[in-house]
Amino acid sequence: MSRLIKFGMMAALAAIALVPLAPRHARAAEMTPAQQKRQMFRRGAQLWPIYCNTCHNARPGGEFSPTEWNMIIMHMRTQANLPPQDANAILEYLKASR
Ligand code: HEC
Repeated sequence: MSRLIKFGMMAALAAIALVPLAPRHARAAEMTPAQQKRQMFRRGAQLWPIYCNTCHNARPGGEFSPTEWNMIIMHMRTQANLPPQDANAILEYLKASR
């Protein structure tokens, strides 16, 4: 085996071994409130079409005021049996996407 190939393999192995050490995702505790909100928004944007399209057309954020959404989500999270974190993420998305 050539030295170059050996070196390449060693480098690849070292890179694989170091992957778990790299801070790829900041943990929730290390995020600023703005970053947490941003992450909730993105999660909500992904969940909204999945959950909220099941029984009726998913209603867009602009259709209701933030106060109305608070009430609607309280009602719909029991209808859809949503985990609280998912319901909060969808709520954040709906309020912010108006
Ligand atoms: C298990 C079925 C089900 C799921 C899932 C569901 N809904 Fe509903 N939704 C209903 C039903 C039934 C109604 C109408 C009767 C009622 O209000 O209970 C309704 C009504 C609504 C309305 C109408 C309120 C109005 O006054 O016009 C909105 C807005 C709404 N849902 C939003 C959502 C959102 C957002 C989600 C996702 C988190 C969601 N729904 C998920 C069953 C569901």
